[in-house]
Amino acid sequence: MPEMLRRNIVMMGAPGSGKGTQSAILSEKLGINAFSMGDILRGVAKGDSEEAKLVKSLIEKGNMVPDQLAIRLMENELFKPENEKGYILDGFPRELSQAEALDTALNSEKYAQYHMNIDLVLLLQVPDDYVIDRIIGRYQCAHCKTLYHEKFKQPHVYGVCDVCGGKEFTRRADDTYETVVSRLRTFRRVTAPVIPYYEMKGLLVCVDGTGPIDVVSEKIRKIVGY
Ligand code: AP5
Ligand code: MG
Repeated sequence: MPEMLRRNIVMMGAPGSGKGTQSAILSEKLGINAFSMGDILRGVAKGDSEEAKLVKSLIEKGNMVPDQLAIRLMENELFKPENEKGYILDGFPRELSQAEALDTALNSEKYAQYHMNIDLVLLLQVPDDYVIDRIIGRYQCAHCKTLYHEKFKQPHVYGVCDVCGGKEFTRRADDTYETVVSRLRTFRRVTAPVIPYYEMKGLLVCVDGTGPIDVVSEKIRKIVGY
């Protein structure tokens, strides 16, 4: 591995900026796990418990789930020996309190042994009108969750997932115009303060996320150093 390879990565950006798309590409190229907090929460929301019902109603309205729940879920996923070779966090942390909790965990007696300190925080920058277009046209494979877009990323064979061959596709319940506007507001109010937190630590690199998917991933490849 080249010495400059940065493999413990946080992916930040507004809803629809391409976090999930670019995390999947990086995960494949680097052979490391990508964790989408949104996907984890949508998994929780399928259950029957009171917690599942709460999560479902919050994410469908575009509201954040309670901090402590997000932190607990991420710690459960992240701190495993297989992630010592690197990881990508997509959608976590997205509040200052979550960034601080993650740092506390990374430095704790329990987890410091894993040497998983963050190497790089990528901020995908995309104007609001782009993200609205991207989210309204998004759909995904019902089986393997690969992301597609009506205009920007169709499967190679119409109606067949490129990755798993699945023929069923779904759309997210929170991908309505009203919810996207509310998620963008939450991003500015709650998540934006995390940006200077990582800038002060010298970890933040901004990426222009407006070009086609492969152009953005090429920019990321150079920054990550693979
Ligand atoms: P989450 O699932 O993370 O949603 P989000 O942040 O709103 O981001 P998205 O997944 O909508 O967009 P993305 O940036 O991944 O873009 P994508 O790659 O899909 O979170 C959902 C909800 O869970 C939150 O609202 C909240 O309620 C809750 N939650 C999550 N994390 C939490 C936390 N830490 N604490 C508390 N609550 C939390 O791309 C979008 C589309 O565009 C796709 O169709 C793709 O094909 C296309 N596309 C991507 N890149 C390009 C490109 N360069 N050019 C053209 N098209 C592109
Ligand atoms: Mg996503």
